[in-house]
Formats: sequence, C-alpha cells, structure tokens
Amino acid sequence: MVTVKLAATVDGRIAAPDGTSRWITGELARERAHAERAQLDAIVVGTGTVAADDPALTARRPDGAPYPHQPVRIVLGERELPPDARVLTGPGEARLVRGHDPRAALAAAGDAVNVQVEGGSTVIGAFLDTGLVDRVQAYIAPVLLGAGLSALTVPGVGTLADALRLRLESVERLGDDVLLTMVR
Ligand SMILES: NC(=O)c1ccc[n+]([C@@H]2O[C@H](COP(=O)([O-])OP(=O)(O)OC[C@H]3O[C@@H](n4cnc5c(N)ncnc54)[C@H](OP(=O)(O)O)[C@@H]3O)[C@@H](O)[C@H]2O)c1
Repeated sequence: MVTVKLAATVDGRIAAPDGTSRWITGELARERAHAERAQLDAIVVGTGTVAADDPALTARRPDGAPYPHQPVRIVLGERELPPDARVLTGPGEARLVRGHDPRAALAAAGDAVNVQVEGGSTVIGAFLDTGLVDRVQAYIAPVLLGAGLSALTVPGVGTLADALRLRLESVERLGDDVLLTMVR
C-alpha cells in the first residue's frame, strides 16, 4: 500500500516561493501525521526535501518522545546528504537510494507493506507518474499562498478528461485543517 501524504494550502501549495513549508497545517494535523507515521513500515522523501527542510522523519508524540515503532526512512536522489542531516540520525534506520526511480525506493523498503511518500513535489509526481500510488492523504489548511510549490510536479495533463480522479474515502476535521483520504 503506497500512500502519498502532503500538507497543502487550499490553493494546492506545499511550500512558499522561498521554500518554507513549516508549518502550513496546525498542531492537531501534525500530531495526527506523526501518529500515522508510527503505523508505517517505510517513509520515502527526495533529496530536495532533506536539503530544504532537514526533516527528522521520525514518529514522535506531542511531547517529542519517539513512538516505539519507527518506519524506515528512505531518501531518493543522486546528491550526497550532509553527514549531519537529521534523517540520518535515529531512532530507526535510514536508507539512501541513488537515482530517480520510485521502484528502487520501494525495493529498498524490502518487505514493507505500508509505505508513505512524504514529498516533495518532484518525488510525489514521480510516484504518481509511475502509477504506484494507492492512496493520498491530503492535510489541507485554510491558508492561501497564491504562489509557491504545487503539491506535485508531473509531466501534467493538458485536458481535464486526463486528470487522475481519486475516490474520496473520508473527510476529517483536525482543528482548522481538513484531512482528505482518497484512494484510486
Ligand atoms: N508541505 C508538504 O507536505 C511538504 C512535504 C515535503 C516537502 N515539502 C517542500 O517541498 C520542497 C522540496 O520539493 P522538491 O520537489 O525539490 O523535493 P523532493 O521531491 O523531495 O526532491 C527532489 C530531488 O530528488 C531527486 N529525485 C528523486 N527522484 C526523482 C525523480 N523521479 N525525478 C527527478 N528528481 C528526483 C532529485 O535530486 P538529486 O539531484 O539528488 O537527484 C530532485 O531534485 C521544499 O520546499 C519542502 O519544504 C513540502
């Protein structure tokens, strides 16, 4: 089961033009995202997200304590990561996958059942383009940016008829944010 998770403004932006994305959503949404992480086998991000945000990608409780189960953290891309990148420090294991192939990232997840792609825009686009995504969890904040990075970069479609349409499975309110869970 491959889930894409993203936190976006209502106009579909996951970062401002200067690359800042913390925080688009509020505390409850972030707590929920951490609780969801604690159920996963693996998380995938691109090197761009590591460079921009230096995320730990661990599953943490609101007090900062790690959940007992941590997903494997997989970083996809060619570039070297700074040795002090937070994603490389524990708890849990980090794996670097050279190249741009989403299938290689999944292979690195081994026998993982639940894998979550957490960005950024390029890697989400690559997974969607490869047809590997089963589910999308979109945390949508009542925020308007009007500029910045779109939730995904794919070759894109020229006409509405070619858009990927998902089935809405659930809508949950988390404080001022909304979590949309959608499946293929
Ligand atoms: N709001 C959210 O939910 C959220 C979540 C995550 C990130 N973000 C934001 O997203 C921004 C980063 O986006 P991004 O698109 O640069 O990051 P990204 O998707 O994490 O990383 C892109 C980089 O990964 C490598 N890569 C891996 N697979 C690739 C492929 N199939 N095609 C092309 N390149 C591939 C390339 O770098 P190499 O040169 O290393 O090969 C590429 O430049 C940041 O501003 C961050 O804050 C927001």
